[in-house]
Amino acid sequence: MKNEVDIILEEKAGATQDQLIPILQAIQEKEGYLSEESVVKVGRHLGMPASKIFGVATFYNQFRFEPLGKHHIQVCRGTACHVLGSATVLEKVQDILKIKPGQTSRDGMFSLEVVACIGACGLAPVICINGEFHAKVNENSIEEIIENCRQTEEAHA
Ligand code: FES
Repeated sequence: MKNEVDIILEEKAGATQDQLIPILQAIQEKEGYLSEESVVKVGRHLGMPASKIFGVATFYNQFRFEPLGKHHIQVCRGTACHVLGSATVLEKVQDILKIKPGQTSRDGMFSLEVVACIGACGLAPVICINGEFHAKVNENSIEEIIENCRQTEEAHA
């Protein structure tokens, strides 16, 4: 059966290696990440070894190789957020969840991404979880926010 990756590659019939990045972007947009299977398919399509594709994709930190968690946390690293302490917030998230940007927690509950300005500088430092903005986050409030996500999951379990 055809999946999204097959459809994307069909649309890019005759693509050459210089279209690698847009193809990977299209796949990530549809699937949320680049699976090993997708990378192998792209390699076959473009006549490139999968290892080379992984090498290129790893260089660009926009790509992720694990599925998104149920709660996808985006920490803004734009200037306004940075000035007001987003680095400390990011450190705290990494500390609590034991994951780095681009990774997903083992239980699949959380994933982490660092993003450029998300256009809410007045709320800085701001984080976004599954599209919902959290304003003026600090070391303490981020702990509560993550705990709330956990409790929501437990309530639905
Ligand atoms: S710098 Fe973070 S929202 Fe603009």
